[in-house]
Amino acid sequence: MKKVSIHTLIKWKQEGIKFATSTAYDASFAQLFEQQQMPLLLVGDSLGMVLQGEDSTLPVTVDEIAYHTRCVRAGNKQSLLVADMPFMSYATPEQACQEAAKLMRAGANMVKLEGGEWLIDTVKQLTERSVPVCAHLGLTPQSVNIFGGFRIQGRDHDQAEQIVKDALSLQNSGAQLLVLECVPTALAERITAALHIPVIGIGAGNKTDGQILVMHDMFGISANYMPKFSKNFLAETGSMALAIDKYIQDVAAGTFPAQEHSFE
Ligand code: KIV
Repeated sequence: MKKVSIHTLIKWKQEGIKFATSTAYDASFAQLFEQQQMPLLLVGDSLGMVLQGEDSTLPVTVDEIAYHTRCVRAGNKQSLLVADMPFMSYATPEQACQEAAKLMRAGANMVKLEGGEWLIDTVKQLTERSVPVCAHLGLTPQSVNIFGGFRIQGRDHDQAEQIVKDALSLQNSGAQLLVLECVPTALAERITAALHIPVIGIGAGNKTDGQILVMHDMFGISANYMPKFSKNFLAETGSMALAIDKYIQDVAAGTFPAQEHSFE
């Protein structure tokens, strides 16, 4: 695989080529993902749940994300590597710049932040200081205590309009990618069409430019529970390499996620 940059993903969006992406947390899986040509890997704060066994992502620290980012980068030089900024590590633009620098030094190409219009200054300042940003809207797991659980977002009219407004504002502030999590398929389709930056969905239907899965869900080995929007690709293929390949092929063909993995 040739080294993937944000320009690769933008070109795919323009050409209507759908792409799969995954989380990764260590060098061995990162290398396997590179061999299977996974274009983007996310060192997600989901590691709090799938590696540490916590019931939310809130306990994860910047040092832990930096450690896993270094591990993933050691095993994979080609995929675009995004690192999550964990809970309360970007409460102010100044703090965000300090903490993002640790993740970039660990090997990330981009950082991901959860939240809407309140992040505009932060996204601008990070981008101006050479830190590319991936925004994350919809079900933002760091806000689980505000939402009162892991609930689908954007089902009512006002909430949907706010997510559209947030997405446009974040793009206009400099965000280069957007993750949309657990929103109705029609809303994700509308946002994907409205933005020129690539939109990567999880539990957001099959109309987004890309998809992301937590790798443990892809292999059906998550310690806590298997979300409705995930699929165990290992069960039908019998090997991790084939499971990754099947996921990539199904996303490219638009057959994953199917209706049963999506929300209305
Ligand atoms: O932390 C994570 O793995 C994520 C993905 C689910 C998008 O944010």
